[in-house]
Amino acid sequence: MSPLLSDLHAAAGLLAQSSNQSALEPAGVQAARIHSLYWVFVWVCTVVWFVVMFFLLAAAARSHARGTARPKEERPDLAPDGARERRMGAVVGGAVAVTAVTLIVLMVSEFATARSLTSLARGTSDDNPVSIAVTAHQWWWEVQYQDKTPSNIITTANEIHIPVGRPVTIQLRSPDVIHSFWVPNLHGKKDIVPGHPATIWLRADRAGVFNGQCAEFCGHQHANMRFVVVAEPQAEFDKWLDAQRQPAPEPQTAMQQRGKQVFLGTSCAMCHSVSGTPAFGRVGPNLTHVAGRRLLAAGAVPNRPGHIAGWIIDPQKIKPGVRMPQHSLSPEDLRALLEYIETLK
Ligand code: CUA
Repeated sequence: MSPLLSDLHAAAGLLAQSSNQSALEPAGVQAARIHSLYWVFVWVCTVVWFVVMFFLLAAAARSHARGTARPKEERPDLAPDGARERRMGAVVGGAVAVTAVTLIVLMVSEFATARSLTSLARGTSDDNPVSIAVTAHQWWWEVQYQDKTPSNIITTANEIHIPVGRPVTIQLRSPDVIHSFWVPNLHGKKDIVPGHPATIWLRADRAGVFNGQCAEFCGHQHANMRFVVVAEPQAEFDKWLDAQRQPAPEPQTAMQQRGKQVFLGTSCAMCHSVSGTPAFGRVGPNLTHVAGRRLLAAGAVPNRPGHIAGWIIDPQKIKPGVRMPQHSLSPEDLRALLEYIETLK
């Protein structure tokens, strides 16, 4: 397949995935509650709109029939009439009451949904949840799986795997500006204010790859601050977790060896970590298993060799404003580096 065709394929794949970013197709218990609330609002507001339009048009038609353009003196309907005014007062009073009741119904259903979301969290709190710490950076997501055994703690980026049917607690923090964590298929938005860690609970009830997005404007590349949540059966999740806990494999070929030396010898290692090597930078994403991720640069491009090369050489072109600097590597060094990165599965 030509590079252009394969790029088109990748783009089509990304578009297809984007249908998995919808609050109208809940895949989790919290999203389902929010979805129900959404329909309450839609139906109530639709009925209100039709009622208002009906009376507005009826009033317009009536006033047209009466010929309101005529001078006041020829309009008997404008003469004071006590009975009529009492009737009008009752109608307006009734309309105010109906409006108040409607607003109260909406308010109560909103409160009830918010309460049920927090009680779902409490109800699941003792149920051995998966605990994940997510740090929002300009403009990517650092994802750390907590464990009682420190050596089992793993750090990855922009891709969150969770087991289906089990509660997941996500501790959110931001070291820079306000971001917002949002996976529409699984839960509502949660703002992340620097200095104010927040926690969100969710549970996926079916397997799938769900797209998430930063939902609070956080600078130049806010739109390219995406992530994916991969909900999978427990066995697959365990397999994934176990693979993530392994250090990066040793490069096998001479080219891969050279790539590793390029990685460690240039500025890559100053910002990125690869476990099992001396690279332990914390400024950018942990790259120990980067080749296994679906997307690159927090969803800016697909994770494919051509895009990785473009990203290394000139990240500003793909994501203007990003913290990653440009790199001028010789073509051989770049090829070796790409081959090494491909081993980081
Ligand atoms: Cu982070 Cu918008």
